[in-house]
Amino acid sequence: MGKIILTGDRPTGRLHLGHYVGSLKRRVELQNSGEFEKIFIMIADAQALTDNWDNPDKVRENIIEVALDYLSVGIDPEKTTILIQSQIPELTELTFYYADLVTVARLQRNPTVKTEIGMRGFGTSIPVGFFTYPISQAADITAFKATTVPAGEDQEPMIEQTREIVRKFNSTYAPVLVEPEISIPENTVCRRLPGTDGKEKMSKSLGNAIYLSDTPAEVKTKVMSMYTDPDHIKVTDPGKIEGNAVFTYLDAFVKPDSFEKYLPDYKNLDELKDHYKRGGLGDVKVKKFLINILEEELVPIRAKRDEYEKDIPRVYDILKKGTEEAEKVAAATLHEVKDAMRINYFDDVELIKRQSEKFANK
Ligand code: TRP
Repeated sequence: MGKIILTGDRPTGRLHLGHYVGSLKRRVELQNSGEFEKIFIMIADAQALTDNWDNPDKVRENIIEVALDYLSVGIDPEKTTILIQSQIPELTELTFYYADLVTVARLQRNPTVKTEIGMRGFGTSIPVGFFTYPISQAADITAFKATTVPAGEDQEPMIEQTREIVRKFNSTYAPVLVEPEISIPENTVCRRLPGTDGKEKMSKSLGNAIYLSDTPAEVKTKVMSMYTDPDHIKVTDPGKIEGNAVFTYLDAFVKPDSFEKYLPDYKNLDELKDHYKRGGLGDVKVKKFLINILEEELVPIRAKRDEYEKDIPRVYDILKKGTEEAEKVAAATLHEVKDAMRINYFDDVELIKRQSEKFANK
C-alpha cells in the first residue's frame, strides 16, 4: 500500500515562521517528492472550537487565513486535498467509537494536553471536548489511513495516542486501521523556533510572531527589535550566541548561498558567529542580514497570497472540492470500522438470517 499524508492546523490565527519551518515547508517538500499516494491537509476548525467554543467567529474568520497561507507557501490543490474538519461528520462518528478505547487516565497523561490545560488556565474546569481532542485527532489521522503526519514536535503525543488507539482497535475488532508515524524537521532549530522576544516558542498569544503575511515593513520592525544578547551593548563587546534569537533564526533560515548574496565578507555562519563572540560585530548588521534572508523566502509567498486574495470564492471552491473528496475517503473508512465492529446491522444478511431462524424455531 502507498504512503498517505494527513496533517492539519487549528484555524485560530494566521500562520507564522514557526509553522513554516516546523511543518509547512516540509509538507511542500513531501508533496513535491512524488513519494505519496495521497496527501490531505486539514483545517481543524472543530478542534479549534474545543477551546474557542465561545468565539466561533474567530475560527470562521481564520479558516480563510490558514487556507491562504497553505496556498501561498506552495501547497498545490492539484496534488494535495485541503479539507475543513467540521464538514466531515464521519470524523465525529469515528471519534465516538474510539472514545470507548481510551481511558480518562490515559488522556490525563498526554503531555501536550497537560501543558495546554495549564496555559489556558482551565484549572479543574476542563471542557470535555478539549480534554478528548486527542481522540478526535486520532479519528482525523486514521480516517484517511495516514501513514505519515508531518507536524511540529508538540504533536508527538497525539501520534503516540493515535497509534495506541489503532492497536487497540485492530486487536479488538479487525485489522482495518493504519498506525501513523510523525515526520518532524531534521534541523532541530526548526522544531521549536523561538519568538522574536527569544521566548521558548513563537506564538500568537505571546505576541512574538512573524507572520507569513506580514508586510516587508512589519518584518523589518520585528527583526530590528528582536532579542539578542542583553550584554552586547557596544559593537566591540563580545556577544553570546546561545539564546540569541537572531542567530537561532539564522540557523533555521540560512542557505548555502546566503553569504555570497548578502554578506560576502563572511564565508559561513560559523565565521559570523565567531566574529560576534569575539566582539566587533554589531547586532544591526546581523539583523539586516537576517531580514534579507527572510525576505528572500517571504517575497514569493506574499506574491502567491496576493493572487489568491484577489479570488476568495476560488479558494472556497478549492476547500469545498477538497472536503467533498476527503469525505468519500472518511466514509469508506467509517464503513470498514463499523463492519469490523459488526454494527452495520442493515447490511448484515448473516445476522438477519440467523436471528430469523432463532425466532422461527422458538
Ligand atoms: N493539533 C494540531 C494543532 O494544534 C491540529 C490537528 C488537528 C492535526 N488534527 C490533526 C495535526 C491531525 C496533525 C494531524 O495544530
